[in-house]
Amino acid sequence: MRTWKVGLRITLFSIVSVYFLYGNASPVFSTDTHQILEPRVPSDKLAAVKVLKNTVPKSEKSVLKGKTIYNGKGTCVNCHGKEGKGDGPLAGSFDPRPRDFYDADDIGWQKVRTDGEIFWAISNGTESGMIAFEDMLSEEEIWAVVNYIRELGKSSVQAREFAENK
Ligand code: HEC
Repeated sequence: MRTWKVGLRITLFSIVSVYFLYGNASPVFSTDTHQILEPRVPSDKLAAVKVLKNTVPKSEKSVLKGKTIYNGKGTCVNCHGKEGKGDGPLAGSFDPRPRDFYDADDIGWQKVRTDGEIFWAISNGTESGMIAFEDMLSEEEIWAVVNYIRELGKSSVQAREFAENK
């Protein structure tokens, strides 16, 4: 074999090895479950935000109000998708991707987040791409959207339980 070919093989091998050694370990990959579950609220505020009380009781009425905002003036649907699967028309341009509220892939995001943390993320946005809505939606409207996000997650759990119990 010619020397340049051997050299090329070694170079390619090194690139592939480096990718597997370090590339996969990088926390920027949105498919990394750990990265998705990592709190979005800064650590000095986390304890207080976690216990924030939802001032809008979860009822059929508030869930429906949340749904209207989600699909309407909140524009959430454009990124998070109609069923909350993180697959709206604009989703492709974000890394990490808009959150999947459907949670059907057992990532457990719905379980890990409190209502307070979801409220905070919608109000303040996140450093990794979620926009802040505090100037666009009232607190009451944001809590209603939190209720709708819970409903989107719940339907997936029910669907899964149904599928498992068959
Ligand atoms: C322009 C796109 C876009 C729009 C519009 C948008 N989001 Fe997001 N959202 C994102 C992206 C991207 C992320 C992922 C950011 C991250 O992982 O930190 C995200 C993450 C989230 C999260 C997860 C925060 C967490 O703690 O993990 C919540 C909750 C959320 N969005 C709710 C909403 C709601 C409710 C609306 C509408 C009022 C909305 N988003 C509108 C792009 C969007």
